[in-house]
Amino acid sequence: MTVDLRDYIESIPDFPGPGVTFRDITPLLGDSEALKTATNALVDYARRQGATVIVAPESRGFLLGTPIALELGVGFVPARKPGKLPRKTVSESYTLEYGSATLEMNADAIKPGDKVLVVDDLLATGGTIAATNKLVERLGGEVVGLGFLIELTELQGREVLKDYDIYALMEYE
Ligand code: PRP
Ligand code: ADE
Repeated sequence: MTVDLRDYIESIPDFPGPGVTFRDITPLLGDSEALKTATNALVDYARRQGATVIVAPESRGFLLGTPIALELGVGFVPARKPGKLPRKTVSESYTLEYGSATLEMNADAIKPGDKVLVVDDLLATGGTIAATNKLVERLGGEVVGLGFLIELTELQGREVLKDYDIYALMEYE
């Protein structure tokens, strides 16, 4: 039986604010077959790209990045919201639709020459992943691909990330 992953995404109008359609991935996470299908597709992509490390931003990125790393047989590195990592970190701030945000990564998490697949649940404006990529590159890693469950095409995150290889399992406007 093949799984249509779109059956496992709930679209909620006007959340978290008017005009935004929130794409909720929790039904996909809650179904073992759907989760396995999505994870396997991203593991295959990571393998094609020759990834030796998986990096993902807090927090929804963690839910996918860790099982992908485990299945691929490589390590996982978190890019965390500020103030959570107690040792030496590198930090990148970025703009969101409203205001700004920061991500931090352990300064010793990536070794020069590491081939990194960056994973997240969803690509919107691309700001989160552009900041994550910068952290990886500042530490000497090479971003070999960007893997997502969902790409929101209307927000044109692909433009912001045009220097990178992008693979998304589903597209929404
Ligand atoms: C969401 C999502 C992506 C990001 C995409 O995370 O999980 O990481 O937004 O948006 P962008 O492409 O415009 O940067 P959010 O910041 O809501 O945090 P969460 O994972 O903790 O819910
Ligand atoms: N992150 C940014 N935009 C989003 C959306 N429309 N749905 C779910 N997560 C998001």
